[in-house]
Amino acid sequence: MNGCAFVDGVFVPPEDAKISIFDWGFLHSDATYDVAHVWQGRFFRLEDHLDRFEASCRALRLDPGLSRERMREVMHECVRRAGLRDAYVELLCTRGRPAPGSRDPRTCTNRFMAFAIPFVWIADPEKQRRGVDLVVGTPARIPASSVDPRVKNYHWLDFVMGLFEAYERGGETVVLTDGAGHVTEGPGFNVFAVFGRQVVTPSAGVLEGITRRTLIELAQREGLEVQLRELGVDELRRADEVFLSSTGGGAIAVHALDGVAIQGRRAGDIGPVTARLQAAYWSLHQDERYSAAVQYGR
Ligand SMILES: Cc1ncc(COP(=O)(O)O)c(C=O)c1O
Repeated sequence: MNGCAFVDGVFVPPEDAKISIFDWGFLHSDATYDVAHVWQGRFFRLEDHLDRFEASCRALRLDPGLSRERMREVMHECVRRAGLRDAYVELLCTRGRPAPGSRDPRTCTNRFMAFAIPFVWIADPEKQRRGVDLVVGTPARIPASSVDPRVKNYHWLDFVMGLFEAYERGGETVVLTDGAGHVTEGPGFNVFAVFGRQVVTPSAGVLEGITRRTLIELAQREGLEVQLRELGVDELRRADEVFLSSTGGGAIAVHALDGVAIQGRRAGDIGPVTARLQAAYWSLHQDERYSAAVQYGR
């Protein structure tokens, strides 16, 4: 695979980026991560991703052992070495291994890793053109009182089982509820519903996505009313438009929910609010207030 990774303080090709099977990141999903992206040679909202990564590490009592400046440098360097213009750039911190014979997390040496690979879409451009078919999965999202979804984490068995269910039911991806009929999020994305000039996204039980924040700001700039509140699945079915938000593609239109087209629209007929936000999102990528050029030259 084209790309570059940073493991144990060394830049290596992706195929050499390995961790011990005894690392609790692997054994217990005891890790956090963040994903930023580079588009046309520029990092998008990199400082916001670093803020969220540092906050996640603090919340999980993980110490990546690198300054913010060094982490930023490593991200630039991974992209530079890989020579990528459009990239998916991940930072990770795992708990590491405990002292021999110990099960005490305080004895673990935490590990920091990073990598840059070619940009990964949550739905490929063709699916985005049509709009994705979303399924409301049976598993409830792991409760926020157990694992704080605002801390980016790998507790994904609910999502993965939901994805299998979605594929079996003819869908392309899944959204999970909180078990009480409210929308949470899906594997790699937040969810928005549009009702006239109102744009609604769940206020709780979700990762506070950087794309979600961007689209909220853009919607407000467009004069739309943004509501962060509980969003019922029944409401979602009645929405004028539904879209997903993710670093892996921005605002991604949903065509159907559980096999029923949103407002009876044909595939490819993207709702006007979604279309406007998509265009506004991509145009921000050249704006210096939101993006920073990758340091390629060295
Ligand atoms: C569970 C979950 N929710 C939401 C998101 C969207 O977050 P962002 O917009 O920062 O990519 C992600 C991204 O990977 C995610 O994993």
